[in-house]
Amino acid sequence: MSSSWIEVGAEADFAGQMKVFQIGRKKVAVAGLDGGIFAFDGLCPHAFGPMHRAEVDGAIVTCPYHAWRFDLRDAGREIHGYRPLAMYDVKVEAGIVHVLFEAAASAVVLDSRPCKLSYVAA
Ligand code: FES
Repeated sequence: MSSSWIEVGAEADFAGQMKVFQIGRKKVAVAGLDGGIFAFDGLCPHAFGPMHRAEVDGAIVTCPYHAWRFDLRDAGREIHGYRPLAMYDVKVEAGIVHVLFEAAASAVVLDSRPCKLSYVAA
């Protein structure tokens, strides 16, 4: 099966935003967080929590259902050693964000919201 770069929108539209797309048969979340744009499975590997509603602390996203925490800068590693969050490669060309997907498909945005920041103690 050949992979394809799927266009998901303008880079500027992801600043501080999380969006979830239907790409083929998968939900893919794309977020502009601290230090970059990340694409990851829109459903948590524990019990399918909606990852585009995750709380954010830097590049750590916390599932809203049972608080599994995933490090997007470390290949989606769950910080307690549970199953990782699947991630997708991202590239930005001419200000347009693309996600590397397993097959040719188009992206349809399902939801978009500002990133929900976690409380960080001073
Ligand atoms: S569904 Fe995400 S932690 Fe349980």
